[in-house]
Amino acid sequence: MKKNVLVISTSQRVKGNSDTLAQSFYQGAKASGHHVEMISLAHQTISFCKGCLVCQKSQPCVIQDDANVIVEKMQKADVIVFSTPIYFYEMSGQMKTLIDRTNPLFIKDYQFRDIYLLATAADEDESAIDGAIKGLEGWIACFEKCQLKGVIKGVGVDQYGEVNNHQELLEKAYQMGKEIV
Ligand SMILES: Cc1cc2nc3c(=O)[nH]c(=O)nc-3n(C[C@H](O)[C@H](O)[C@H](O)COP(=O)(O)O)c2cc1C
Repeated sequence: MKKNVLVISTSQRVKGNSDTLAQSFYQGAKASGHHVEMISLAHQTISFCKGCLVCQKSQPCVIQDDANVIVEKMQKADVIVFSTPIYFYEMSGQMKTLIDRTNPLFIKDYQFRDIYLLATAADEDESAIDGAIKGLEGWIACFEKCQLKGVIKGVGVDQYGEVNNHQELLEKAYQMGKEIV
């Protein structure tokens, strides 16, 4: 079945390590005929959630910025893919800021079922990704109809574009996208 796949690249480094993994995933999903859209947060304005909870009274978010459109796209996607650099053994702040802005969906119905995480870190040990997985699982726990379907632990990549020296990671991301069902 053709799925609506939304790939959200959260690094500010366009064509950096996690963004490149996201591109590979995107290409793989495209090759399988899915409808795939990729968004980079690099040129988006996304403010912090104010915690006013107006959205929990079925009213639109009080903040008017680029997050509202992205959150609407997330609501309608079957599959959501987050790519992130690891910052201090957690997901990037920009990814967390976007996740917080999905609070309006908490009281709504949503389409997404399968969630993927593509993360890159300088550290060679795969445990470098654990904090980001844990953080994302916290979000998933609040949206019970979805599950964490796949994770790429892109460890040992630091400099800009270094992931291109790790074809095995790019291939893994491509295959993961291709194998979406
Ligand atoms: C603010 C900051 C914090 C970082 N913290 C970590 C860290 O805790 N552990 C780690 O292994 N790498 C850390 N890194 C390195 C990045 O995770 C790594 O370079 C990653 O591949 C960057 O991905 P990108 O090119 O997609 O932005 C940090 C980098 C920055 C800029």
